[in-house]
Amino acid sequence: MMSINPFIPYQATLKEVINLTPDIKLLNLELTVPELQNNFDYKPGQFAFLSAYGVGEAPFGFVSLAYRKSGIEFAVRRIGTVTAALHELEPGATIGLRGPFGNYFPLEDYKGKNIFIIGGGIGMAPLRPVINFILDHRAEYGNLLIINGARTPKDLVFANEFDTWAKAPRTQLELTVDKGDQNWKGREALVPAVVTELKPSPVNTIAITCGPPIMIRFTLAALKGLGFANNQIVTTLEQKMKCGMGKCARCNVGDKYVCKDGPVFTFEQISKFLEQY
Ligand code: FES
Repeated sequence: MMSINPFIPYQATLKEVINLTPDIKLLNLELTVPELQNNFDYKPGQFAFLSAYGVGEAPFGFVSLAYRKSGIEFAVRRIGTVTAALHELEPGATIGLRGPFGNYFPLEDYKGKNIFIIGGGIGMAPLRPVINFILDHRAEYGNLLIINGARTPKDLVFANEFDTWAKAPRTQLELTVDKGDQNWKGREALVPAVVTELKPSPVNTIAITCGPPIMIRFTLAALKGLGFANNQIVTTLEQKMKCGMGKCARCNVGDKYVCKDGPVFTFEQISKFLEQY
């Protein structure tokens, strides 16, 4: 469902703000028109533009699941003027929301397969609804292996869900940080090294990865070293986006528009353009 003029945002009310890390907040929104809120639908992998009125708008992937009806959630990292303005808002504030846009993870097609999730930093944000969708439909998928990496323990997003994920049937959660602190007893390793260490089999497996470009590049190499083919590796790209509808040519990767053809791609689709990313 999209607003009648896709350039005009819906009005949404900020219901709740949760600090996920020192620089990432989870914003929980509700469209102000109840009928729109009740019918608002989107899928894991899609994104929307959020606007801080008077400042500007920026794109963010949905991190909630529409069918759970627990609010529309986004993880916002403070990196510029729009995100700084969004971080300043308190519950009750009005935010503009334009979307949903883009394609989505074809989770129906992955039924019966093992799923290997590899996220780094804020890159875990669009992967959270994928994990929760699989956990909500656990019997329909094979083994679920999750690697969640960050710079430090404080930068690991969705820490309050780790127990739920780790205790789910046939699910393995592996955390890693570049640098631990005095309380950290877990891994200190880069995400691609953990991929190589864990050696998941590529047989009947889809790998879904999102994170900083350098992590993606080395993760891709690690997966290929394990025998994963390009059509078994899926990512979601974050390019500079302006319109979200294939009109402004801001977001191209080769001949693809990230906003319209993506943001979800297999590496088979984008490998020849990867050097631009
Ligand atoms: S954001 Fe305008 S063409 Fe993709």
